[in-house]
Amino acid sequence: MVRQGKLLEVKDLQKNYGKKNNITKALNGVSFDILLGEFLGIMGPSGSGKTTLLNCIATIIKPTSGCVLLKGENISAFDSKDLAEYRGSRIGYLFQDFALLDNLTGQENILLPLSIHGVDFAKARAKLDELADFLEITDILNKFPAQMSGGQKQRVAAARSLISDPDIVLADEPTGALDTRSARNLMNKLEGINRNSGRTILMVTHDPNAASFCSRILFIQDGVVFHELRRKQEESREEFYERILQLLAQLGGGSANVF
Ligand SMILES: Nc1ncnc2c1ncn2[C@@H]1O[C@H](COP(=O)(O)OP(=O)(O)OP(=O)(O)O)[C@@H](O)[C@H]1O
Ligand SMILES: [Mg+2]
Repeated sequence: MVRQGKLLEVKDLQKNYGKKNNITKALNGVSFDILLGEFLGIMGPSGSGKTTLLNCIATIIKPTSGCVLLKGENISAFDSKDLAEYRGSRIGYLFQDFALLDNLTGQENILLPLSIHGVDFAKARAKLDELADFLEITDILNKFPAQMSGGQKQRVAAARSLISDPDIVLADEPTGALDTRSARNLMNKLEGINRNSGRTILMVTHDPNAASFCSRILFIQDGVVFHELRRKQEESREEFYERILQLLAQLGGGSANVF
């Protein structure tokens, strides 16, 4: 598998909310690249612009200025057909609160993006079986979200974000609503998806444990990237976790640095 080259380029992204005399600068010039096959983490205090950044990449909101390129293509220049394809099958979005539809079963939730995009059923079925097996949700595919545990709901949501074989999975605090054990289980699955299928993942997290599964972490504050940690080749996840904790302790010093 080719694991080189830039998959996503974020260039000087700015996003202001509000009107003239009441502006919030949520993103204040964020720039970074994501390489193909990377597992990139984003950490930063509450309100530092992390969700805004993911939402700009997902085209849920429009940046005030700057741009995002996917494989060199400017996503804000997409016409409506390209945009639908981008949202439907080139990115997968995994939300903190799962965002499953209550009146659909697990299987229906997972297949929903494909039915919207008219993918062949037999092909979708094979893909679903493979994902369900890996994510250990085969037994709960016919249950409704209300009948699933938090960890199961998030694994169903993970399957939904992966079913269209997206170029990149965007995950916003995917472990935020999970207990420690379910969080660890989900992170093991995401790590497997990244390592085994070379899937690129961009994950926002507050949790140093979840972050330690990443190959690189960007720290953002006040709408800019101000630090980066890279997991070394020979470094174990536990060692990387210790380094993340050390950095957070250093950053926790100032009142504006509450991570
Ligand atoms: N729709 C909106 N309208 C106005 N201001 C907003 C809107 N969405 C976010 N903001 C503001 O933009 C800033 C960045 O918000 P964002 O949700 O991106 O932060 P975050 O880093 O994801 O925080 P958290 O860790 O709490 O999820 C905050 O000051 C927030 O109040
Ligand atoms: Mg957020």
